[in-house]
Amino acid sequence: MKLTVNGTDHTLEAEADMPLLWALRDILDIKGPKFGCGAGLCGACTVIVGGEAVRSCQIATGDVDKPVLTIEGLAGDELHPVQQAWIEEQVAQCGYCQSGQIMNAVALLQSNPAPSDDEIDAAMAGNLCRCGTYPRIRAAIHKAAAKLAGARP
Ligand code: FES
Ligand code: FES
Repeated sequence: MKLTVNGTDHTLEAEADMPLLWALRDILDIKGPKFGCGAGLCGACTVIVGGEAVRSCQIATGDVDKPVLTIEGLAGDELHPVQQAWIEEQVAQCGYCQSGQIMNAVALLQSNPAPSDDEIDAAMAGNLCRCGTYPRIRAAIHKAAAKLAGARP
């Protein structure tokens, strides 16, 4: 089975119905996506597949036919603007949910470059944070949106 992750092509020895999260973490040793609920309810496992945020615990690896981006592949020479904003706003507390939050935020800003508070809340509603970092997540998304707008020609 073939899988492209963070720009690298892999050939996996795995059952086609293995959840993508398992393939990433247990076969490819890509540990950014986290196991939270395993039921599509928490968002800790969020990665971007073909430009869309997906819950990697809920998609079979054999059904993935587009490139996968995890938080490990987000930064180029510099951190991604969303990562920069996350640091500047000191978003993380325990950190467990944050990879999923960031990947969901990146996908949101790709589809909506200037989301309102309500749009942020709606888009991020499936990403739970037991530490309650939601106000800082919202502030960081606004800051990242401004950074991305400033970077556009
Ligand atoms: S671990 Fe995938 S949504 Fe919770
Ligand atoms: S920072 Fe702890 S669960 Fe979100």
